[in-house]
Amino acid sequence: MTDPRDEFLAKWQLTFPVLVAETDQAQVWRVVQADGRFAALKLYRRSDRGNETHGSSLLRLWQSRGAVRIVQDEKSAVLMDWLDGPSLGDLARAGRPDAALAVLAKIAGRLHHAPVVKDAELKPLHEVFDPMFSCQFSLNCPSDFRRDMVRAMHLARTLLTSQPIATALHGDLHPDNVILTDDGPRVFDAKGYLGDPAFELANALRHPKGMVELVRQRSQIERCLTLYSSAMNVSSERLAQWAAAKCALSIFWRADGQIKHDNEADLLHLLLEIVDQ
Ligand SMILES: Nc1ncnc2c1ncn2[C@@H]1O[C@H](COP(=O)(O)OP(=O)(O)O)[C@@H](O)[C@H]1O
Ligand SMILES: [Mg+2]
Repeated sequence: MTDPRDEFLAKWQLTFPVLVAETDQAQVWRVVQADGRFAALKLYRRSDRGNETHGSSLLRLWQSRGAVRIVQDEKSAVLMDWLDGPSLGDLARAGRPDAALAVLAKIAGRLHHAPVVKDAELKPLHEVFDPMFSCQFSLNCPSDFRRDMVRAMHLARTLLTSQPIATALHGDLHPDNVILTDDGPRVFDAKGYLGDPAFELANALRHPKGMVELVRQRSQIERCLTLYSSAMNVSSERLAQWAAAKCALSIFWRADGQIKHDNEADLLHLLLEIVDQ
């Protein structure tokens, strides 16, 4: 049987593959196209692409608004332009978080300045959250953490049943999914969800990656809530609620069965305190 990587290299006439990232769901290879230009080949382990099934069709619809250009798109593989430059996460980690997050907010506003034609089948937010509602806690899960998780699940249910409009959502818009190229910032790695626009930058409250202390500063969270809610034209209270709900969802995804402890338990607690203010 042909290796899936070799199959797509041959089919799309790609050469010199270099592995640049590998996760549970996918591998990303930098490759050279027949015309000599670099491209990124994302190879998924599953042909339904796990939770990114509709991401590339949404990126296509958003191409003129700052999304990466999709060159080929088939079953378990996506070929897109190679984005040369630092990510917004790199910029933040190099000491310029305010500049990075301002660009993130701006590009979110640009993606969402008008609704896109919904010819892509996107995954409704309730389908994304549903599995969390039947989560299990381990006997030694600390009671405070368990209480916070239950509270966040309750918030999530309330948010899901009170969504004002259903918008096409990137679903994972954070600084490491935006690269600053010479032609401007480019967004990639979309999940392709459908739901409340207040969800769109909720996950960004858990980022930039690796900046654990900054992410947990109350003043930073409040600044981001103001910045992001204004960029998306949504209520900052609702955005804070989605942030807590998404933090709980990420904890659930990582738990792999039973929830016991998690490095973001403190962040979840802080976000819930801010929701209650
Ligand atoms: N089009 C691209 N151009 C350059 N680098 C890319 C591109 N797509 C992905 N990458 C690199 O691969 C990494 C992982 O890809 P991504 O699609 O974000 O997958 P994941 O779901 O694992 O976050 C990115 O953080 C980035 O460093
Ligand atoms: Mg990513």
